[in-house]
Amino acid sequence: MNVVLGVGGGIAAYKAAELSRLLQERGYAVQVVMTEAAQQFIQPLTFAALTGRKVVTGLFTEDILSSSIEHIQVARDNQALIVAPATAGLVGKFANGIADDFLTSMYLAFTGKVIMAPAMNTNMWNHAATQHNVELLRARGCGIVGPGEGVLACGTTGAGRLMEPVQIADFVDQFLMERNDLSGETVLVTAGPTQEALDPVRYITNRSSGKMGYSIAEAALARGAKVILVSGPVSLTPPAGAQTIKVKSALEMRKAVLNHLAESTIIVKSAAVADYHVANIPEQKVKKTAARFILELDPTPDILAEVGRNKGDRLLVGFAAETQNMVAEARRKMEAKNCDMLVGNVVNQSGTGFESDENEVTLVMRTGANVALARAPKRVIADQIFDHLLKLRLSLHAVK
Ligand code: CTP
Repeated sequence: MNVVLGVGGGIAAYKAAELSRLLQERGYAVQVVMTEAAQQFIQPLTFAALTGRKVVTGLFTEDILSSSIEHIQVARDNQALIVAPATAGLVGKFANGIADDFLTSMYLAFTGKVIMAPAMNTNMWNHAATQHNVELLRARGCGIVGPGEGVLACGTTGAGRLMEPVQIADFVDQFLMERNDLSGETVLVTAGPTQEALDPVRYITNRSSGKMGYSIAEAALARGAKVILVSGPVSLTPPAGAQTIKVKSALEMRKAVLNHLAESTIIVKSAAVADYHVANIPEQKVKKTAARFILELDPTPDILAEVGRNKGDRLLVGFAAETQNMVAEARRKMEAKNCDMLVGNVVNQSGTGFESDENEVTLVMRTGANVALARAPKRVIADQIFDHLLKLRLSLHAVK
């Protein structure tokens, strides 16, 4: 496959050299395009030597006749565009259609798949403008890998590190794999936390960001499924192409899931459903007094267990977020709730689980097998879940 590696101007630009080598090792023909800023950090010669090709360094080169249309030609000749490092500037320009150099002009002319690996200062990454731009790109089908967390070149510690080249290459492999193995399936995904009202102004919730569930919805869409996404309150933009139903409470989530159960063939319950709620929510705001306040909560219905009782031939995947005895707990829940697979993750280690872009999970299967997946971006994990689920279906049919 022919791919363009777009290199943005950031400290991490040197890592793109290693990425260009890795991508070629995996069979991609790599055409490097550098922004002007990138050339301040690393020489085009490095990439030319590594790829054996002329590196594109600008819209207006000496060859006036060919240069004016070269960005269209490069867009036509390649099936994927990978941008690493993607600076805040590139993310903003791609999201808003600003074409003011070769890479951004080529992007607008490009009809293939696009992957961006952002890298920038933590505050720049966290800025509402950047987050909004990233969500716009994601919803448009762009694959976003990272950023990771760690010590940054600017001396701060936090989100903003370029993912390691091998992680980006793994993501590229998963994202570009031509698969249509979920066509004809209807995948019902639940994602995010639920929000349980205590009174008209207060609620309880949990730390789920919805990123894992949204990645599952994206992966299912990319593999040809019809996707129904039942989402608790999150700040993510739903992937284009999914039928999204927004809910708040566990009761609302249950209703949406049961309404769409009949038409679903695969159900993935990645939502972190609140276990308790206030059954009779006061109509008025609860007022402060000097006395101790005791909150009485009742259990919410267990949606996964209810679906498990009525699942028929459907494939059912549950999730378990654990702080200890992860595999044993996951297996217990898988059996108790009649799932085909339970995805167990440990949530008290940094960089994976709740709120982060990466995850490290163990798949506990109905067949008795446990499959530990290496730490990877959630979008990669999502594809691996479907890979194993489809294999599981084959082995379940073989048993019948
Ligand atoms: N789940 C559900 N409805 C609930 C609670 C949980 O559908 N009311 C689902 C979640 O979506 C997840 C799975 O059950 O797929 C496991 O959730 P978890 O909270 O880990 O399990 P619990 O059975 O609530 O066990 P505990 O909180 O005691 O660990």
